[in-house]
Amino acid sequence: MILELLEYVTTPCSWTARKLGYLNGQIGIKVRHRQCRRAWKTHLEKTRQVIRAAILDCPRRRKAVVLGSGLLLDVPLADLAATFDEVVLVDVVHPISVYLTKLWYRNVRLVRADVTQTAAELAKVAHNPALPLPHAVPQLFCDDPDVDYVVSVNLLSQLPYVPTYYLEKTTRNENEVEAYARDLIDRHLDYLQRLPGVVTLITDIEKLKIDNHGNIVERFDILYGATLPWQTIEWTWEHIPLKHVSSDFAYHRHVCAVQNVKSAATK
Ligand SMILES: C[S@@+](CC[C@H](N)C(=O)[O-])C[C@H]1O[C@@H](n2cnc3c(N)ncnc32)[C@H](O)[C@@H]1O
Repeated sequence: MILELLEYVTTPCSWTARKLGYLNGQIGIKVRHRQCRRAWKTHLEKTRQVIRAAILDCPRRRKAVVLGSGLLLDVPLADLAATFDEVVLVDVVHPISVYLTKLWYRNVRLVRADVTQTAAELAKVAHNPALPLPHAVPQLFCDDPDVDYVVSVNLLSQLPYVPTYYLEKTTRNENEVEAYARDLIDRHLDYLQRLPGVVTLITDIEKLKIDNHGNIVERFDILYGATLPWQTIEWTWEHIPLKHVSSDFAYHRHVCAVQNVKSAATK
């Protein structure tokens, strides 16, 4: 608790990211990972494997961009840094551990940015229901001719997570909040197709409630009704094992990966 408080105070972070709750969210992921390290291992390794396979497909290897780099739990940074001239890690908040990791690599750069490009506007208008919620038009790196590889790494389902939690504390109505959340998802999927280079998507699409016999008893759509148009590689992430929040239920995530969204077969 004291360590988390210290991290909250010392992490370099924009006022908007603090206000909306992105920094808290990331510290929460770190704590959950510490508690569920063994259960998360397979998911993290499968994610790294998809990225390693994708970078072999890149005909040119100048700049790689990692969207949602976070704590780098699922990012094979050493492979990326050895393969590309430059690796750009993008996240709305970079934890202090990543600033330290970066010191080992001469070709790794950190960009602190909101990939939806709506957070700053959201922080301004959220409490004034007379003003519309922002519309996402992500552009970051779309015009960068040096980009040969982009990966959106366990980010898509997280895009609405912090904003909707923040909006729940306002007087915004549910339909409006859900439409905003869906827009963030749809616009990110569209953005991935507009980015240069080989583009990989790895994301959880559903939360699964599992009883203590291992049966799925409930499924929760975490993409607000959006579906991935591509054929995907799929696996289950044991996100919250039995006895962590309940002795009766575990919570898993259904994860999908597309090695290259531009050449992937559609469903
Ligand atoms: C589930 S984590 C992804 C796992 C991450 N690669 C790791 O190893 O920690 C989601 C990450 O997305 C970031 N994120 C959430 N919304 C974002 C946004 N709008 N723009 C950029 N990053 C965002 C969070 O800060 C968090 O680090």
